[in-house]
Amino acid sequence: MSEIVYLNGKFVPYEEALVPVEDRGNLFADGVYEVIRFYSGQPFLMKAHMERLERSAREIRLPAIDIEALTEAGLETVRRNGIGDGTLYIQVTRGPAPRNHAFPPNPRPTVFMIARSLARPGKELRGQGVTCITVPDIRWLRCDIKSIGLLPNVLGKQQAREAGAFEALFVRDGVVTEGTSTNAFAVREGRIVTYPEDEHILPGITRRLILAIARREGIEVVEEALNVDELDRVDELLISSTTIEVMPVVSVDGRPVGGGRPGPVARKLQEQYDRLVEKVASGESIDDLI
Ligand code: PDD
Repeated sequence: MSEIVYLNGKFVPYEEALVPVEDRGNLFADGVYEVIRFYSGQPFLMKAHMERLERSAREIRLPAIDIEALTEAGLETVRRNGIGDGTLYIQVTRGPAPRNHAFPPNPRPTVFMIARSLARPGKELRGQGVTCITVPDIRWLRCDIKSIGLLPNVLGKQQAREAGAFEALFVRDGVVTEGTSTNAFAVREGRIVTYPEDEHILPGITRRLILAIARREGIEVVEEALNVDELDRVDELLISSTTIEVMPVVSVDGRPVGGGRPGPVARKLQEQYDRLVEKVASGESIDDLI
């Protein structure tokens, strides 16, 4: 069966989902995106993702997008492709126009969605944790916008792969901001420490959920920068995203973190996360948690 893709109001076979070569997404990375998780065909925190998409679009001054209509189209894209556990990718660009840096006079945004199957991270990986490297954070100063301009993230992730690591953590002015496609958290003296929501990180939806779970579990949360040289001394380190959920980190740049094994806070968060996944998979919404 050919994949069905949503493109500008239509559901079309993958091969027919074509975008003009001069689309501004193609020329300038002039666009924004979202990745939304589905479990057993049910959306996980879709409302928060759509609100973030709306904000990203507003921040780069795209014409207003109809979030309700896009939500419906996104759900339909997932249904039409028979996705159980998977992701929905949504991208909105400023559309096609002859190449010129300034906005075209009458932009016609390109809206594209694709749904793909993606299994949850394996129990083994989640149980044993992953390794990271650090790389300089060479990104711009609006990382809070979920822009499709991801070259520093691509280069960082590739560097991690070539070093045999799972993720690269960005370091700016001596502090860990986030991963190339994940948010990062340390556990120190029983508290969760994570970079505050500002223009240096993407305000992760999973990050918000983790902080909500932590507070509910009585774990104190401190939103402050973590020095990269403190990594040796933290009790635990975690990364999170829509696709990898909550993942313990057991070493950074080849040095063990927290004894080189996932710790109790990671386990507790994973347990609670699993419960929420089950809830969503059975048709309940958890939108009010964050
Ligand atoms: N990335 N930080 C960055 C730079 C990201 O790209 C992502 C997500 C996150 C985590 O955000 P969330 O919890 O909302 O997924 C943090 C997606 C999954 C991607 O680009 O594929």
